[in-house]
Amino acid sequence: MLDVKTLTIDQKLKLLTGANLWQNDSVDGKLYQVRMADGPNGLRLSDFDDANPQDETAFPSLAVAGSSWDREIIKEMADAIADEAIEEKVDLVLGPGINIKRSPYCGRNFEYISEDPYFSGEMGKAYIDAMQKRGIGTSLKHFAVNNSEWDRCYQSSEVSERAMQEIYFAGFKKAIDANPWTIMCSYNPVNGVYAAENRKLLKLTLRDKFGYKGVVVSDWGAVLNSYKSLKAGLDMRMPYHEDGFTTLKSAYKKGLITDSEIDESAQRVIDLAEKAQNAKKHHKINMTRAERHQKAVEIAQSGMVLLKNEDDILPLKGGKIVVSGTYTVNPPLAGNGAAMVKTAYKQTELDKLLAQALPDANVEYVDVVNGIRLRAIRMRHLVERAYGSDVTIIAVGNTNVEEGESWDRENLRICPLDEKLILETAKKCDNVVVLLYTGSSIDCSSWIDSVKACLWVGFSGEGVNEAITNILTGKVNPSGKLTETFPIEDNVYPDSNEGNGFVTRYGDDVFVGYRMYDTFGVDVCFPFGHGLSYSEFEYSDLDINKLSETDYEISFKVKNISNIDGAEVCQVYVKDVVSMVSRPQKELKGFDKVYLKAGEQKTVKVVLDRSSFAYWSDPLDEFYVENGVFEILVGASSRDIRLNGKIKINLPDELQVSK
Ligand code: GLC
Repeated sequence: MLDVKTLTIDQKLKLLTGANLWQNDSVDGKLYQVRMADGPNGLRLSDFDDANPQDETAFPSLAVAGSSWDREIIKEMADAIADEAIEEKVDLVLGPGINIKRSPYCGRNFEYISEDPYFSGEMGKAYIDAMQKRGIGTSLKHFAVNNSEWDRCYQSSEVSERAMQEIYFAGFKKAIDANPWTIMCSYNPVNGVYAAENRKLLKLTLRDKFGYKGVVVSDWGAVLNSYKSLKAGLDMRMPYHEDGFTTLKSAYKKGLITDSEIDESAQRVIDLAEKAQNAKKHHKINMTRAERHQKAVEIAQSGMVLLKNEDDILPLKGGKIVVSGTYTVNPPLAGNGAAMVKTAYKQTELDKLLAQALPDANVEYVDVVNGIRLRAIRMRHLVERAYGSDVTIIAVGNTNVEEGESWDRENLRICPLDEKLILETAKKCDNVVVLLYTGSSIDCSSWIDSVKACLWVGFSGEGVNEAITNILTGKVNPSGKLTETFPIEDNVYPDSNEGNGFVTRYGDDVFVGYRMYDTFGVDVCFPFGHGLSYSEFEYSDLDINKLSETDYEISFKVKNISNIDGAEVCQVYVKDVVSMVSRPQKELKGFDKVYLKAGEQKTVKVVLDRSSFAYWSDPLDEFYVENGVFEILVGASSRDIRLNGKIKINLPDELQVSK
């Protein structure tokens, strides 16, 4: 164990800045250098000179993996990435990213998990647990309120304390239970002070309130002034920057930073390095590249969401099937930026996979180039070939051009020419099925009523075409559900850049996503938690078992009343019927995914605790459980409530404020 007390001041200060793009300082060879690499859905080794950056497994984005609503799926993905990290001698993966999808325009939403903090925290915790169990570290990111990408290094997020605590911190607080080896602070100012220099954020919240003991690293290039960052509670500036050491040294000489501040952070970096080095002793590779690919397929098919399936047009029954859209040949695997993985996996065209899976069908590919390069002639070409087909599949969506790090989306719809292609084809062909390759939410209201079915594919990594084939042919019964609202663009809360133009005022406060749409009765395209199956599920027998004044075991039965094995994501929402503050109409406080054979019935149990009922009280500066009636809403989505119960909380005064 290297004791910081034995080091010179220069050696200590060098520990507070990376040694290069991806590693900590070696303290003149005395300390292990942790090798860090992006990212949440696979290893991005393109900057590494000694790795094979051409063949890492491109797993589905976290938006897709999260849409499985299955903690085990998230764990399996983190485990498989850890496996590859061990193979590539990476010690720490820079993920998961769990920023709340406040604005559907955020260019990086494909990389995040949800608009809901409880859900984001649960899935982030599962990811961290599974990866660190393999002895590979994580970096929970980006703390905090980095919810848009334009001007992410300058735009100050101006947020009320209540919205911070209930919406933007809550997922991080829950995920910290898994003790991430590091937490990454965000680029943006928060209420006027850069996150990397924000003592309220890093010291008073992460350390003092949440009890975080690990290393706080900066986002890459997020530190403007190293000594201010150190004083705010940031441990390690990444990556190496020449003025990192010099700024710290001159601040030390002026007495602006103290020995104890330096030692505390430097020792945390030492502890991280030694933890990573010790973990290597237990590293073992469990999977082959092929097995990781198969895992990528399984995750993708668990997370894709069947948005519409009129007349049970899916699964495909055979006959003449036309497949169009270049995305089926060369699918977008991920959004742009840190989450991009260079895979050598060669896609098989979707039409070929469908033809293999449906040997009696007549599957024909019609080459329609997606996006603005479309020409009217190709549209006529498609309609001529699709006319009379039993099913016409049209692939549309975005690529890493429209969705990526450091820019936001221009709009929430697919390319207008692709919308026109869908509408024109649907006029002539009865059974149009749309495959929606978008990284995150999309407004499909202009065309969804004209088509029979729509599968949200997301950015699903290298297993995308196999996963789509398995779902379209019924080999896999879709079970994913939306973890973000698909809004109607005209109804989206305006991102108010009021003030001096460098400020984004979070005027929506705690009313984010479905919390806004459901509270104010706003129409959406598809609601939070929505997703169809080839099976049908019946909910019954809601029972609320009181364990204490604030702890309740909610149980109910779910039955698969179809003749197809499937899985159902059951959601438990809480509604504070009467409160002294304005509260969302409902809030997700529990969920489970239950796998049911045809005709099978199971009992689902979800436990609610005081955090399920509390809100943040500014005057009390704490979470507060108000006495009164709460409704318990059990649903298949936020707008498909199947069971409804009530409880009444009557706490003595002294117990109403969380400790
Ligand atoms: C990027 C991203 C962050 C990533 C880091 C290292 O700018 O914001 O998520 O892990 O830099 O690539």
